[in-house]
Amino acid sequence: MITVQVPLGDRSYDVLVGHGARSELPALLPATARRAAVVTQDGIPFEVDPGIPYERFVIGDGEDHKSLATIEQLSRGFARMGLTRHDVVIGVGGGMVTDVAGFAAASWHRGIPVVHVSTSLVGMVDAAIGGKTGVNIPEGKNLVGAYWQPSGVVCDLDALATLPPREVRCGRGEMAKYHFLTGDDLLAMSEVERIARCVQIKADIVASDEREGGRRALLNYGHTLAHALEIATDHALAHGEAVAVGLVYAAQLAHRMGRIDARRVQQHLDVVGGSYELGTSLPSGLSPDDLVTLMGRDKKVLSDGLTFVLDGPAGVEVVPGVDPALALDALHAMG
Ligand SMILES: NC(=O)c1ccc[n+]([C@@H]2O[C@H](COP(=O)([O-])OP(=O)(O)OC[C@H]3O[C@@H](n4cnc5c(N)ncnc54)[C@H](O)[C@@H]3O)[C@@H](O)[C@H]2O)c1
Ligand SMILES: [Zn+2]
Repeated sequence: MITVQVPLGDRSYDVLVGHGARSELPALLPATARRAAVVTQDGIPFEVDPGIPYERFVIGDGEDHKSLATIEQLSRGFARMGLTRHDVVIGVGGGMVTDVAGFAAASWHRGIPVVHVSTSLVGMVDAAIGGKTGVNIPEGKNLVGAYWQPSGVVCDLDALATLPPREVRCGRGEMAKYHFLTGDDLLAMSEVERIARCVQIKADIVASDEREGGRRALLNYGHTLAHALEIATDHALAHGEAVAVGLVYAAQLAHRMGRIDARRVQQHLDVVGGSYELGTSLPSGLSPDDLVTLMGRDKKVLSDGLTFVLDGPAGVEVVPGVDPALALDALHAMG
């Protein structure tokens, strides 16, 4: 088992990564907790024993259920069981469950402790770490939420045994992103080391910029086109798959801006398409002009005009004011 600390002063917490890590769950719960509300989904065949009395709350599967209605349903359940501010919420699931459980905990009695037991690869390397919680509204994804750091996170690799292959691919898309943020050869590591290293990379970035005033935006490498592709394909392309394409696109764009050479573009293709075995070309039938328009609307942009996270001589950084003509040109290079 590997323990990674997310260093946030008096809100620091441990992330336990390893096979069988769920057995350590009771040790991560706040000492004051007399009862727990376990939030999970029916499709998740992963049970936990918090070591204190608990009630289990099953929420729906899929982004449609990542909603304020689900938060209300959970809150009313918490009220019925008499969950107090000294108790704890435990999210057991992928990023959808931990985002919802985190937000329910952040707002119940104006904030009670939450511990995440992450069961998906995306959850382990990304969603469960860093304290962003929230739900969707029809106007957009993750628009209502709160920063609410967990008291601890369990990444039990045993959970991954039942994860559908497509969800594994999505996790690999985010891992490929970490490859380019650090240059680490993650695939050369054992699975436990690899996931722990991804947790460490995210923890370091979060610790340096908890509320995304600057450096945390680097985690959006590959994401500007990815968000546009998710919308343009009506989510036929899943998030992590879209990130894979977005990473290669970001390299094509950086090359056109003179920030990186052709060899570095090829490295992106080799790593994403070769090592990580992910698709790197645009789905057919999409209008490049529409994609540029969608990228201009991406909510993660930090200034007027097109903003991207791009590789360059000083590594990956946020680059505002990108010429839309170049963004379009780079799309045409994607085939
Ligand atoms: N808070 C953050 O910083 C952050 C970061 C990245 C993503 N997210 C959010 O996370 C969500 C995506 O997370 P995700 O990719 O884990 O998707 P998800 O939570 O929707 O899980 C994907 C599917 O896998 C199933 N599943 C999960 N674990 C399983 C297991 N061990 N065995 C079998 N099935 C399992 C789920 O029930 C679901 O059907 C999105 O809502 C996204 O907005 C949040
Ligand atoms: Zn992502």
